[in-house]
Amino acid sequence: MIGSANGVRIGITGLGVHVPDRVVTNDDLAQYVDTTDEWIQERTGIRERRMASEGEALTDIALPAARAALADADTDASEIDLLICATVTPDMMFPTSSALMADDLGAPAAAAYDLLAGCTGFMYALAQAYGMLASGLSRRALVVGGDVLSSILDWDDRSTLVLFGDGAGAVVVEPVEEGGFLGFELGADGGGGENLWLPGSGSRYFEDGDKLVKMNGREVFKFATRVMVSSAQKVLDECGLTVDDVDVYVPHQANKRIIDHAAGKLGIPEEKVVVNVDRYGNTSSGSIPLALADAAADGRLREGELVLMTGMGAGLTWGSALIEWNQGGVAA
Ligand SMILES: CC(C)(COP(=O)(O)OP(=O)(O)OC[C@H]1O[C@@H](n2cnc3c(N)ncnc32)[C@H](O)[C@@H]1OP(=O)(O)O)[C@@H](O)C(=O)NCCC(=O)NCCS
Repeated sequence: MIGSANGVRIGITGLGVHVPDRVVTNDDLAQYVDTTDEWIQERTGIRERRMASEGEALTDIALPAARAALADADTDASEIDLLICATVTPDMMFPTSSALMADDLGAPAAAAYDLLAGCTGFMYALAQAYGMLASGLSRRALVVGGDVLSSILDWDDRSTLVLFGDGAGAVVVEPVEEGGFLGFELGADGGGGENLWLPGSGSRYFEDGDKLVKMNGREVFKFATRVMVSSAQKVLDECGLTVDDVDVYVPHQANKRIIDHAAGKLGIPEEKVVVNVDRYGNTSSGSIPLALADAAADGRLREGELVLMTGMGAGLTWGSALIEWNQGGVAA
């Protein structure tokens, strides 16, 4: 799917994030599997990640992010009429985490559903919110992306355990007077799905009881380096822009080597690339909003700047969005 915004101005007016307090270092993980801090840093760029404590589930992490986004947009939850939560680790399959959060936040008028698109979930959810708003179905949406991947990791598998962390982010999406989303490109390749999968999570292999992530790291690496580049190029072409127009590049934080490869191939200089995989690891649907928040915190998300976001993940899926950042410009 690919498309440009055709002049309909819908943007992000509030941003909030939250991570669990518990910091887990590479040395901590070396107590469970045969690995070293040196190997993990060299192959992934990850130094530490946050992990949920006993009893801490997705909505415990996502609700503070949602509240922070609403406060940032100066919006009351009652004004939200659409809540999409992108996650592969909801509190439970149903009730959905989005419905639970709408209730907790006080958004009784909101349509609420969870969206499953692996680590690309936040990009898919942004595109859906954009479409709902552009069509006039929704007036103000809250898009949440977050995961508690520590709950589905195999603590005996060094090839996956070291990569992931927990975290969440949220944005308020609504009509804006200036800037806003310029275009999206989204895709999926189920043929490669078994390279990153959770076989025992649904109706097909439910009895097998295997509810832990399995991954073919090399294949996912090849896929990632390909689509991170092609998806970004496609959305830029669709919007009649080039990489030189991009002010801030927010790639999915899976692995520093994947980020470096994509930025290098695209020709985006290091100072425009947002990286926080060293502190959080791969937080799946939380990754892009957490990176946006870091860019905002260090003054890199300025009004009028062109931001390119690209995600990829289980499905296999990928997705890019271009947005002209204009957080203060809520339409009257
Ligand atoms: C997983 C990944 C870091 C592995 O890095 P790599 O350089 O490709 O390493 P390889 O898979 O070639 O493995 C090299 C060796 O390191 C070993 N290894 C794997 N994980 C290890 C770890 N945590 N510590 C030490 N050794 C490890 C492998 O067993 C292999 O050993 P072998 O040669 O004896 O078989 C890399 O493939 C990757 O990042 N893939 C993408 C994963 C991803 O982003 N998934 C989420 C997408 S949303």
